[in-house]
Amino acid sequence: MRLAPFAIERYFARFEFDLPYLLSSSDCEALTLSETLAMADPECRAMWDALTLGYTESPGLSLLREEIAGMYDTVAAEHVIEVVPEEGIFLAMHAILGPGDHVVTGFPAYQSLYSVAEAVGCEVSRWEPHEASGWRFHVADLRRMIRPTTRLVVLNSPHNPTGFLPSRDEFAEIVDVASEVGAWLFSDEMYRYLERDPSRRLPAAVDLYDRAVSLSGMSKAFSMPGARVGWLAVRDPTLMARVAELKDYTTICAAAPSEVLALIGLRNRDAIAARNLAIIARNLAAIEELAARRADILRWISPVAGSVGLLRVDIEGGATAMCEHLAVEAGVMLLPSTVFDHGDSHVRLGFGRSAFAEGLAVFSRWLDDAYPVGTDDRPSSNGAMR
Ligand SMILES: Cc1ncc(COP(=O)(O)O)c(C=O)c1O
Repeated sequence: MRLAPFAIERYFARFEFDLPYLLSSSDCEALTLSETLAMADPECRAMWDALTLGYTESPGLSLLREEIAGMYDTVAAEHVIEVVPEEGIFLAMHAILGPGDHVVTGFPAYQSLYSVAEAVGCEVSRWEPHEASGWRFHVADLRRMIRPTTRLVVLNSPHNPTGFLPSRDEFAEIVDVASEVGAWLFSDEMYRYLERDPSRRLPAAVDLYDRAVSLSGMSKAFSMPGARVGWLAVRDPTLMARVAELKDYTTICAAAPSEVLALIGLRNRDAIAARNLAIIARNLAAIEELAARRADILRWISPVAGSVGLLRVDIEGGATAMCEHLAVEAGVMLLPSTVFDHGDSHVRLGFGRSAFAEGLAVFSRWLDDAYPVGTDDRPSSNGAMR
């Protein structure tokens, strides 16, 4: 098996810890350890104080799996296996897929959602959204791509990088399309709980379909990406057993401190998500203002959920060149759509962090220098864009 380099991660590795302004991060403002411990109930506080740094139970801490199961309608603790989120994708794909299998994946996508299947030797069909209809993934397109032999459909809602969220009816229809051919459904729900309007929250796929796997975790809505805690909810016992066997070759078990911190986080999930939604609302207002002011070169479809979206940048030279110059000249990191293999006309905005608006203001000033409003002779004197 030969995995392609992970383009987004490689791009982040160049800039993430060096540049002052990060405008593409997908997580929400991380909690500090003291903020987290201050939210602990007496049971969690006692667990934290008595914590031993030994190996932990491979499927995950029982109390944590029970808490997670409570987030679903049909899931019990035995249907939950704790994984690092990225690891969950790797394990589930390996458990479900073999060489020659047909897979349909929403695309563009977080790369492991298609690269792992490609590395296994699958034939991967890309189900692409329509920007003109608000980044909608049309179910009719999926129906055209699905085959009687399709083994797996891969979904991610709310979607990274477009921010698209299907309606409940569309989501149910997608599940139907998969179930009609008996395909597995891998549903990446990492950005769930970040719906601006809670009534738009979709059911978890695992609650709708017995051959569905739901992935979620602490990294996005719950502000603990560094805890490296996520989980798969799987109701099929054979698949669950296979995932557990494979996990012995990756992490074996989670870090004990992370499990207690994740339990504290989940017991306070509504408060954490509410705090993040307030940050997101402020940041979205700033993006909308910039996009309206620079409608000559920017086009923004404001996502109804999640913490990322794709901004169209209509400039000569393309988005990648712009991002390179922006990083060097203004210390601002933006992720170009080329890292998603999705053309060179967009950048991903990640608007879950507190300092986002400050960085956006730097980007806005830089843009005005490089591409002054109302001039036809763009690009301007800014050396970067010549
Ligand atoms: C859609 C999606 N799935 C999975 C992951 C993996 O999460 P983690 O980096 O916490 O392992 C990410 C991370 O950005 C993501 O965007």
